Amino acid sequence: MVDEEAGVVLRARIAAAQRICVLTGAGMSAESGIPTFRDALTGLWSRFDPAQLASEEGYRADPQRVWDWYAERREGVRAAEPNAGHLALGAFARQRPGVLSIVTQNVDDLHQRAGNADAIRLHGDILADRWLERCPERGTGREACATGGAEPGRPPRCTRCGNLVRPGVVWFGEMLPPGAMEAAERAAAACDVMLVVGTSGAVWPAAGLAGAARRAGAFVAIVNPHPSDIDGEAHAVLRGTAAGVLPRILGVGVEGG
Ligand code: OAD
Repeated sequence: MVDEEAGVVLRARIAAAQRICVLTGAGMSAESGIPTFRDALTGLWSRFDPAQLASEEGYRADPQRVWDWYAERREGVRAAEPNAGHLALGAFARQRPGVLSIVTQNVDDLHQRAGNADAIRLHGDILADRWLERCPERGTGREACATGGAEPGRPPRCTRCGNLVRPGVVWFGEMLPPGAMEAAERAAAACDVMLVVGTSGAVWPAAGLAGAARRAGAFVAIVNPHPSDIDGEAHAVLRGTAAGVLPRILGVGVEGG
């Protein structure tokens, strides 16, 4: 479907839908000034090596470098503001409570700040800290280290056992946060419309949610200025940006309509 026709069909589907699932990726936050990963030239993975910066091995090899890289990204996230796309989703959720489920691969907090506090975060939270090692005395590594508090540093360490603090994001080869994928699969299976916004569809299992929704009977639409790996799953593709397209197709203004 060409964009104009796709927009009309999608608006009608959205108006009639009881459940809408929105899967977002880095392109969702691009217009807030947060870089994507795979866009040519501007994407983080065109300039940095994910094996060094987004893996446990990379962190162990050079904790200070990786900590500092995330510290800079955290600054960028704190300084960013939700864009018109995030705000449209927040406004839509207020207008039609209970209809929208957001599943995001993004580690920023812009959906939450735009009013979607319950967005499912598949890849963690860049602003959260966790311990690198499972605490020798208890726990999963997500709770406080039982042996002591963290002393400031790059990275901070446990004052007693030396355990390192790391950012609360999912690195390559790691499990997703407990329950997150299950919740995302439930939302994908239950929706009438699946809206896929700003993802390359290169990373699994998130990329599989569009196909899962389609097989369960949902109308699948993609919003992305460029082709993605999962365009073949879509009934409609809208070639535009998150901030440009979402307010229009959700029928809500930036002010919260
Ligand atoms: P990618 O960087 O792989 O893809 C970003 C997508 O956004 C591309 O398809 C762009 O065309 C599109 N895009 C760019 N600007 C846009 C805009 N203004 N509006 C809409 N779309 C736009 O990012 P993800 O698909 O999110 O993993 O990448 C998936 C995962 O790979 C990330 O969560 C991250 C990364 O390694 C972890 O952090 C674990």
